[in-house]
Amino acid sequence: MCSANLPHEAESIITSGAVRPRLTFLGVGPLGGTYAACYAELGYEVLGYDVDEGRVEKFSAGELPFHERGLGELVRKNLDNGRLRFTTDIDDVAEFGDVHFVCVGTPSRRDSDSADLSYMEACVTSLVPKLKREALIVGKSTVPVGTAAWVQQLIDKHAPGDVRIEVAWSPEFLQEANAVQDVLRPNRVVLAAQTEWAQDLLEAAHKGVFELAAQEDREVPLVVTDFATAELVKVASNAFLSTKISFINAMADLCDRTGGDVTALARAMGFDERIGHKFLRAGIGFGGGCLPKDLRALAARGRELGAGESMRFLSEIEDINIGRRTRAVRLAAEMADRSNGPAGPELGGLNITVLGATFKPDTDDIRDSPALDVARRMSAGGATVTVYDPMGMENARVAQPQLKYAQDLRSAVTGADLVCVLTPWEEFRHLEPAALGDLVAHRRILDGMNSLDPQLWVNAGWQYRGMGRNASA
Ligand code: UDX
Repeated sequence: MCSANLPHEAESIITSGAVRPRLTFLGVGPLGGTYAACYAELGYEVLGYDVDEGRVEKFSAGELPFHERGLGELVRKNLDNGRLRFTTDIDDVAEFGDVHFVCVGTPSRRDSDSADLSYMEACVTSLVPKLKREALIVGKSTVPVGTAAWVQQLIDKHAPGDVRIEVAWSPEFLQEANAVQDVLRPNRVVLAAQTEWAQDLLEAAHKGVFELAAQEDREVPLVVTDFATAELVKVASNAFLSTKISFINAMADLCDRTGGDVTALARAMGFDERIGHKFLRAGIGFGGGCLPKDLRALAARGRELGAGESMRFLSEIEDINIGRRTRAVRLAAEMADRSNGPAGPELGGLNITVLGATFKPDTDDIRDSPALDVARRMSAGGATVTVYDPMGMENARVAQPQLKYAQDLRSAVTGADLVCVLTPWEEFRHLEPAALGDLVAHRRILDGMNSLDPQLWVNAGWQYRGMGRNASA
């Protein structure tokens, strides 16, 4: 893991390098915060910047404002060795950096599916007028294609006099809960710049990643390309992953109607190397801060560019995804012998325990979480819903205060008419059906992400339902 820090030699080789640009990361959320600490670990001098004082204070004290496996150690280590600092002062940023990475959020706009670039605009226009020496501004945030050219226009408009300031692009591909590894040991690096000067500086700013790979006898594929392609790689990759998930979820629907088992189907399909096993887990669908919003933003950008017809399938992908949540609530009603009338499932009087609130395991992130949304829908259908999650309780409570939250797993399931495992946390996968059976009111389990062994539960006298498997178990 990341705390499997760099080999000792790596530090001396990297820090003794002749040209080592000083790096800043603007926006120290899950993206910029992880990059800042990891690039300090790779030997760069790094300054993290954010307008959020709370975040900067936490990082500066060696604490994390969000959960990310292995990141805390790297932050503390590099604060201690002096290679990492955090600030809310943009003058400090302008003074310090040679290469400025823009890592701010690009959420969906309130009034449409397009990406909101206002944080990016604020960040660039506050930094650029302060720059007194040449600098490269590198986009890392996920953006609509065409943004790099717009950033260059902003720079040209706000640049002070004759200082050379250029834009470059290098998308990130971090997966939450694996972000430290994804930065230190990426599966590819994509770079786009417009001049030789910018390209050289961009490469120098990523050199640490390649040096570490060489020391570990690995290769990191490098794709040098144009702005449009670099901007598209990220959204296209996320749209592709979403498509894969919705595809298998559509197959889950067929399995439910025919008695097939979607987990066996996905396993069998995945042995074809052209298909592969990853991202074929059927269940209640995808969520999180990236996949859903990137899918919508790509479709919106496609429409703006006159490619709406080609991007139309993306809305089907989203519809299938949201349909999984409806399906889970209907299944819950079926299992408890309740009606699924035209007004929706009738769950009044039922005590439902939802295990899992985060959008996936090993994170405290509940953004667009299918699990939490299913819990909300069950509550709206009249059920008393009690939620338990190993890490996401605090965030969930703020987002869905009307739900009940249990202190621990045991109290969460006690007296339940139905238990739903909606986020495949490791600790839920190892639940003991017999022991749990003594606590609940009715032995009914809904396996929302197909992460349990149906036979174990059925053998212990439970009514088991997965998503697209064991329709009649
Ligand atoms: C994603 C991309 O994977 C990453 O490359 C990009 O940089 C950011 O967006 P992340 O949001 O951390 O990363 O989550 P990911 O692991 O991709 O999972 C997204 C969602 O898909 C989760 O809700 C997960 O449960 C769901 N999922 C994943 C499935 O439903 N089935 C699968 O087979 C895999």
